[in-house]
Amino acid sequence: MEVKTDANDGSRILLKQGAEARVFESKFAGRRSIVKERFSKKYRHPTLDSKLTLKRLNAEARCMAKARRLGVPTPVLYFGDPILHTLTFEYVEGPAVKDIFLEFGANCIVEESMDDIAVQIGDAIAKMHDGGLIHGDLTTSNMLIRSDTNQLVLIDFGLSFTSTLPEDKAVDLYVLERALLSMHSSCGNVMDRILAAYRKSSKQWSSTLNKLAQVRQRGRKRTMVG
Ligand SMILES: Nc1ncnc2c1ncn2[C@@H]1O[C@H](COP(=O)(O)OP(=O)(O)O)[C@@H](O)[C@H]1O
Ligand SMILES: [Mg+2]
Repeated sequence: MEVKTDANDGSRILLKQGAEARVFESKFAGRRSIVKERFSKKYRHPTLDSKLTLKRLNAEARCMAKARRLGVPTPVLYFGDPILHTLTFEYVEGPAVKDIFLEFGANCIVEESMDDIAVQIGDAIAKMHDGGLIHGDLTTSNMLIRSDTNQLVLIDFGLSFTSTLPEDKAVDLYVLERALLSMHSSCGNVMDRILAAYRKSSKQWSSTLNKLAQVRQRGRKRTMVG
């Protein structure tokens, strides 16, 4: 990951420059923290832009709080700044599931801990979905494992929204399935394990998994046409 020191503030280190937000590592009240700053789109009208940016910022904070209420571990939100369009979170110490899975793939190891992570992922998604929350960007970069407890933490609620539709839940799972296939194909049937855990945890698993089968079929047709 590229690491640069922010020119405006020596204590901030740029971790990621995305299309909608910049993510920095910083200190908040002496604690290691993450600052996510949504920036403006130059082509939009300034007032409208500021309103939209603030709306997304609020939505991200609200959805993260909702996930937490539903029993899904997320970072603690320390602070939100509506003027600077920033959210400041607790820094979660530990690797991304992406890096763990890449290592598993490279070394073909530790079935057990892989299972443990898959179960935690399935469980967490089931809790969100049963509570009517769609994550919207379920990739292994948006899942961290706390080093001290091995607990899964979900991050990045920037594309999250509330919905109880099986279709929305199925698409959420499909995004993860595609990400796992393209990134972690050498990890075997990790999606099957995630879905097994989802099925056990979610009361509404049946309608969601039926929809998932349809969404997959649509995906396949699209691949054949394209
Ligand atoms: N609370 C956190 N603790 C540790 N690292 C984090 C935290 N939040 C974000 N990160 C790191 O910053 C990256 C980008 O943050 P994310 O919220 O996913 O923004 P984006 O919307 O740009 O993907 C993550 O993939 C992760 O590596
Ligand atoms: Mg992300």
